[in-house]
Amino acid sequence: MINRQLVRIPEHVAIIMDGNGRWAQQRGLPRAMGHRKGVEAVRDVVRVAGEVGISYLTLFAFSSENWSRPEAEVTDLMGLLKAFIRRDLADLHSQNVRIRVIGSRDNLRSDILPLLIEAEETTRHNTGLTLVIAFNYGARDEIVRATKKLAEKVARGEIAAADIDSQAIENQLDTNGIPDPDLVIRTSGEERLSNFLLWQAAYAELLFVPEFWPDFSRDIFHAALETYARRDRRFGGVAPVATAAVS
Ligand code: FPP
Repeated sequence: MINRQLVRIPEHVAIIMDGNGRWAQQRGLPRAMGHRKGVEAVRDVVRVAGEVGISYLTLFAFSSENWSRPEAEVTDLMGLLKAFIRRDLADLHSQNVRIRVIGSRDNLRSDILPLLIEAEETTRHNTGLTLVIAFNYGARDEIVRATKKLAEKVARGEIAAADIDSQAIENQLDTNGIPDPDLVIRTSGEERLSNFLLWQAAYAELLFVPEFWPDFSRDIFHAALETYARRDRRFGGVAPVATAAVS
């Protein structure tokens, strides 16, 4: 059990849930089974995040590049996300979880977009953990879309090009209003960001753990939080900066 009195809890944890396919392959199972087991790990991390007092948990559920996977696998992943929202929305709502979805909404299938909107609308006024689902998300695409919106504002004369600063860009990102992640975790031993939160993770602590996502347990999450608490965050300066205080 994590000792919340001794550990600095990050305000925002973002996770690249990698290794579902390899988890399944190791067991001689179809890749779909890995994704299915991955949903159980999602339920566990959401619960732990709420328990330890994390305010924002972002999960990379489907990248803008994942469309290039075999059609059957894409359909399976869509099905799992839809089933997750249908089955778990009431429970998440009763846990006071607020859901936000980031990623491009252009050309999303008519059976998925209304569900994402329903999840956001139903939980809009909740005050507990904010669960950010990155769906059809790619950081470069997000930055391109933000840049276009700013360029349009300049073209309409609403702002001057000289007024564009970091804050102006952040205001146009999908994550507008969400603090930057303090900790980015990637499972499965791969050590890269894969187009995830490239702007927002500028000062995040990165943690790569060897376990495949379906094996990501409560204990591994607690250990990750303890590792984070020992890190010395300087944000380009020299002195350690205290992260979110724990009551
Ligand atoms: C990476 O494993 C994982 C994904 C591409 C999808 C993650 C999705 C889920 C866990 C289920 C749906 C999400 C929610 C929020 C309910 P991989 O297939 O790339 O694994 P591999 O690298 O071993 O092939």
